Amino acid sequence: MATTAYKPTPYEFEALDHEASVRRGRAFFDLMNRRRSVRDFSTEAPPRECVELAIKTAASAPSGAHHQPWRFVLIDDPDLKKAIREAAEEEERENYDNRFPPEWLQALAPLGTTGDKPFLEDAPYLVVVFKESYGVSEESDKITNYYVNESVGIACGMFIAALHTMGLVTLTHTPSPMGFLSELLNRPPNEKPYILFPVGYPAEGAMVPDLKRKSFSDVVQENAGTSGDR
Ligand SMILES: Cc1cc2nc3c(=O)[nH]c(=O)nc-3n(C[C@H](O)[C@H](O)[C@H](O)COP(=O)(O)O)c2cc1C
Repeated sequence: MATTAYKPTPYEFEALDHEASVRRGRAFFDLMNRRRSVRDFSTEAPPRECVELAIKTAASAPSGAHHQPWRFVLIDDPDLKKAIREAAEEEERENYDNRFPPEWLQALAPLGTTGDKPFLEDAPYLVVVFKESYGVSEESDKITNYYVNESVGIACGMFIAALHTMGLVTLTHTPSPMGFLSELLNRPPNEKPYILFPVGYPAEGAMVPDLKRKSFSDVVQENAGTSGDR
């Protein structure tokens, strides 16, 4: 395979004084800490440009060896959304009725989720993220991708953050198994469905589960910690 030589270019660094850094960090945290997964969508459509900007933001993510192993399918066609809802509900009803073990159902109970997924039709946009397990060259050779899950996961996080920043909502949805998305969206075998994001606004009076997040001390260890932590 042909290698491309290292070609450096100046980094356009935006220097901030400490006060500005902290101010920005606090504002960003306050904003992100108000994000919630929404399952009850309005049919009102936000500007399409907002969704495109969120995808562009996601596609600016770091990735293993800069292979950018992602593909975003943007859907607003009502018939396609209906087909996706029907296929997702078939899988998810089977999950809730027969496939999920009791422990999993117990873990999901506080979320109030069921096999019904009306948001897949109500949300004005669906964005299906595919991970590229491997690339394909112009000569149809297989190209190895590196850290695919990590790369696509980071891109999805940036996508969610961008939507929230623009006042839109989404849900990280994984209607397992997701193979039906490859078929309905005609994606090639080197791409695997990763996450399905409904995108839009919350329905009027939308409710979310009353969840508490772990505290800072619950999620952070400073330096080597105590021997008990290791
Ligand atoms: C990888 C991943 C998969 C998820 N899959 C689903 C899903 O299929 N259906 C669903 O209703 N929520 C799903 N969620 C959303 C979580 O339930 C939600 O993030 C969690 O309960 C915390 O709530 P919050 O996002 O409002 O903070 C998923 C989240 C992640 C990170």
